[in-house]
Amino acid sequence: MPAPGAGQVLVKVTATSINLSDWECLRGSPLYARIGGLRSPAHRTLGSDIAGWVEAVGAGVTRFRRGDEVYGDNLSLMGGFAEYAIAPESALTLKPSELTFVEVSTIPQAGAIALQGTARAAAGRRVLINGGGGGSGSFAIRLAKRRGAHVTGVDNARKLDLMHSVGADEVIDYRSEDFTRGYEPYDVILDLVAHRSVFAYRRALAAGGHYRCVGGSARALVRVLTIGWLAGRVTGRSLGVLVVKMGPPHFEPLAASCIAGDVQICIDRTVGLDEVPEALAHVGAGRALGKVVVLVSSG
Ligand SMILES: NC(=O)c1ccc[n+]([C@@H]2O[C@H](COP(=O)([O-])OP(=O)(O)OC[C@H]3O[C@@H](n4cnc5c(N)ncnc54)[C@H](OP(=O)(O)O)[C@@H]3O)[C@@H](O)[C@H]2O)c1
Repeated sequence: MPAPGAGQVLVKVTATSINLSDWECLRGSPLYARIGGLRSPAHRTLGSDIAGWVEAVGAGVTRFRRGDEVYGDNLSLMGGFAEYAIAPESALTLKPSELTFVEVSTIPQAGAIALQGTARAAAGRRVLINGGGGGSGSFAIRLAKRRGAHVTGVDNARKLDLMHSVGADEVIDYRSEDFTRGYEPYDVILDLVAHRSVFAYRRALAAGGHYRCVGGSARALVRVLTIGWLAGRVTGRSLGVLVVKMGPPHFEPLAASCIAGDVQICIDRTVGLDEVPEALAHVGAGRALGKVVVLVSSG
């Protein structure tokens, strides 16, 4: 049983959703997944999107008390694949009563990425979500559609129906087609799995368009930050890396949209704590159709 320090909350975990970042931290790849632990793992227990009950609070915690139902993205401390996890008070917020622990556990990280990644989506704009069938991507497609954009989702063939079901106007199987060639250019591209050359991304962008990647190979991200930034500047486009702001103000709007029925939560499966290794591999292999949730306890 871990003990909360000053400003920390001890959460009795009910549900934890798996993010690709858990798999990346487990494998130490891409390279940025090693931040904080270059030679040995930064975290012994993974799992960042947690939902559960406040068991105890550390000194100075004012927003929560024992028994509160909370959820949040515990990316800095992790530890969600366990019965109890310590999280900073600032990472957590109260769970809305309209959503279950399983449902809210899917929202924090993927929701923050999707909300910030689609901020430029608007009526009349062509938006492309690369990796649109994944955890963040399926939220992003729905949000961009709600903003009135024409949305294209790119993922593997098994996820085309899922992307259609959450609102994509067009879908592209990345294994058989290249969205950077032969398609009308896009005003906004959110890339969850960057690996192409910056010149391909620039080619896929309309004049004045914005390309932002949040995940992908370290090499692709560095190229976007350097050559991509420059290539965009000289051609009237903007290419960059989206550093996602984490914390309740950045994901709570998505919970509100889910409660209102504007956004649906796609859950591939719910597994027990003893099935975490298989569930991580399932997500890492890209087989999940929606979020995979670990149900740690029933309350
Ligand atoms: N920038 C930041 O501040 C920040 C913060 C948090 C997380 N992240 C990162 O955000 C990323 C997205 O996470 P997520 O949870 O949404 O991942 P996810 O659920 O695994 O979704 C990624 C999707 O992309 C698909 N995909 C793989 N290769 C592709 C390709 N070449 N073209 C098109 N689609 C492809 C995957 O399917 P298949 O593999 O089956 O093909 C999967 O459906 C992670 O890398 C995470 O580390 C960034």
